[in-house]
Amino acid sequence: MKVLYVCTELFPFLKTGGLADVSAGLPPALRTLGVDVRLLLPAFPALIAQALAMQAVARLPEGKMPWGAAPALPPASVTLVTLPGFDLPVYLLQAPALYERQGNPYLGPDGKDWHDNARRFAALGWAGATLGQGLDPHWMPDVIHCHDWHAGLVPAYVRAFAQARQATPATIFTIHNLAYQGLFAAAEFAQLGLPASWFDVDGLEFFGQLSFMKAAIRYADRITTVSPTYAGEITTEAQGCGLDGLLRERANALSGILNGVDDQIWNPGTDPLLPARYDETQLQNKALDKRALQTLFTLEPRANALVFGVVSRLTAQKGLHLLPQVLAELVQRGGQVALLGQGDPALEQAFVDAAIRYPGQVGVRIGYDEVSAHAVVAGADVMLVPSEFEPCGLTQLYALRYGTLPLVRRVGGLADTVVDCSLENLDEGSATGFVFDQLSPDGLLSAVRRAFALFRRPDEWAAVQQRGMSLRFDWRTAAQHYLAIYQSLQSDKSPINPLVFGSP
Ligand code: ADP
Ligand code: GLC
Repeated sequence: MKVLYVCTELFPFLKTGGLADVSAGLPPALRTLGVDVRLLLPAFPALIAQALAMQAVARLPEGKMPWGAAPALPPASVTLVTLPGFDLPVYLLQAPALYERQGNPYLGPDGKDWHDNARRFAALGWAGATLGQGLDPHWMPDVIHCHDWHAGLVPAYVRAFAQARQATPATIFTIHNLAYQGLFAAAEFAQLGLPASWFDVDGLEFFGQLSFMKAAIRYADRITTVSPTYAGEITTEAQGCGLDGLLRERANALSGILNGVDDQIWNPGTDPLLPARYDETQLQNKALDKRALQTLFTLEPRANALVFGVVSRLTAQKGLHLLPQVLAELVQRGGQVALLGQGDPALEQAFVDAAIRYPGQVGVRIGYDEVSAHAVVAGADVMLVPSEFEPCGLTQLYALRYGTLPLVRRVGGLADTVVDCSLENLDEGSATGFVFDQLSPDGLLSAVRRAFALFRRPDEWAAVQQRGMSLRFDWRTAAQHYLAIYQSLQSDKSPINPLVFGSP
């Protein structure tokens, strides 16, 4: 089976969040199950800079399509490349006018969305859909697996081909975060070249705007998201971001599959970024990583301090606005905080101020840094993830693997992966961390106090660490679930006859 995996980030080449980790972990796991996977990404400078063995494939088709309209997008072509250390072939969508800009793939230097994001990501959708129609005559996907709103137009274009009686691949769309929807002015619709009648409440229209997320949810054959609990949450008004009605309508096509952990990258026994390595049978070295973390974050080198770590985008989603409000008590109880993050300038400032107010007890690094991220995950005692909502969350999974007890809010993937240290869970040996409900300083403090209480019982603490470290959230399991979906989709489809487009 051939699967085209359409996304915008790929670790370690280009990453803003967990999406990049998923693109690095899931496709190789699918390959080990026998799936012939290729990726498609925009040719962002970070990817071109590292691409090897580039081979031109084709220009994207222009002119009228079988349904009578023509996308009016800048000229673009697809190139097949390999990337160092990444075993799967990657198609890069080259359109210098759209992608050859330094910095963040979605935001300009002013921190605002690039003004032409509708065109930039419509082109990605168009490239994905036309690869599904034979753009590369040597490789045609049976299934196109699209990720987040950036790839959201793939299912729409594929549906347009299908309605024009072309044979098409099946489509599956994975929601990594429903809060980012790809909303644009209605005027942007005309250039997409989709059937005019689709700018409608039953199509891509969303309260007068154009929504790439809605397009995908409407037209994909199957929809997944990255945890079972989030799959349920997004069908509710509270968390559906205005799309809950459509998601309820499509409930039979919707499911939640937990993300995995890439054992090559996140494994305390082999992690080359750590000063000292350890595993569940030999935890002593974790103390050395804790000492190194304290040094890196200019914290007092107290072995008995309970160190709370944070590695996060600083956005409202992550609930970290609660943290400054509990620092006084946390520090007074003898705790420390090591925070690595970047994002919202007001939150960044709040943490910089906190580091000044609590010198030696609160250490803050503003920025994105892979080495420091590993230092926090390994060296902290507790990993804080108090999210308002969390589709899956990877940092709590990494923390579990490293014997760092996650302290999380009971939402989304956090609820699915962390078991609270209640007395009964401790008693039956299922506890792996601390879970709270109320998105408030008191809610967070209730869990922080329980962390201090458990820390005073070293044997029980060690048992909870070992339980977490023994769990495996592996990509193979996730890949098996995705493969089952691909197979169910393929059995519904007839073989594909290519609609062959132009040459390079
Ligand atoms: P999200 O995708 O919503 O940001 P996840 O928990 O799924 O949340 O994934 C976050 C990923 O980004 C993890 O791999 C985490 O280690 C990494 N990360 C987040 N912030 C930083 C940072 N400031 N520096 C380095 N890595 C970071
Ligand atoms: C999104 C979500 C996060 C998830 C990640 C990878 O960024 O915010 O919860 O883990 O995607 O699926």
